[in-house]
Amino acid sequence: MKKKFFIVIDGIDGAGTTTHSSLLAGFLEGRGLSLHLTQEPSNSDIGQILRKFLKNKEIPPCTDALLFAADRSLHYYNEIKSKLDEGYIVISDRYIESSIVYQSVQSDEISIEWVKEINKFAGEPDLTIILDINPKISLARKTQEDLEKFEDTIFLDKVRELYLKRAEQKGYYIVNSDDIIEIVQEKIQKIVIDSLLNN
Ligand code: TMP
Repeated sequence: MKKKFFIVIDGIDGAGTTTHSSLLAGFLEGRGLSLHLTQEPSNSDIGQILRKFLKNKEIPPCTDALLFAADRSLHYYNEIKSKLDEGYIVISDRYIESSIVYQSVQSDEISIEWVKEINKFAGEPDLTIILDINPKISLARKTQEDLEKFEDTIFLDKVRELYLKRAEQKGYYIVNSDDIIEIVQEKIQKIVIDSLLNN
């Protein structure tokens, strides 16, 4: 089985990307594979600024887009690429697809092509899995004070639509995450194992 492999779990807020990335990491480690789990925004200084900006609606969308791209290039070169070169399987909870979708939906002035261009320094994943859920369900458990700026059902409906469109165009796997966690995770594990075996 090939070991060096870059997996991205992406999807709208509340779809469970963090839970499922972590469960997947545990599953693969349990099979004796060297695994590195990471997320975006990353733990870098730029990532910390982005986390702060998620609470601030006054940040221009282009600033978000540029900072996410800056965080990603740093994350890719200093962490993801290094770990892949050492032979690790890397799982990232969110990656370029999050920027393509969220930032282009945020503003008519932000095109998908421009987002791709500013993210061209970050390497492509080997496998992308999109977790899909209806935002009305995913946001139902959150209180109003907990909500970050993108956690709004009207906005997330548009985000979801674009994720699904992109997944179809790019051939990404889509997993419905509105189900029992174990069942969703099993589906993810099957996709990953099949992809690892076929690479
Ligand atoms: P999360 O870590 O709880 O999923 O939150 C990250 C938020 O940041 C989520 O609302 C999606 C958003 N985001 C972008 O808008 N662009 C990006 O490139 C990334 C990585 C995240």
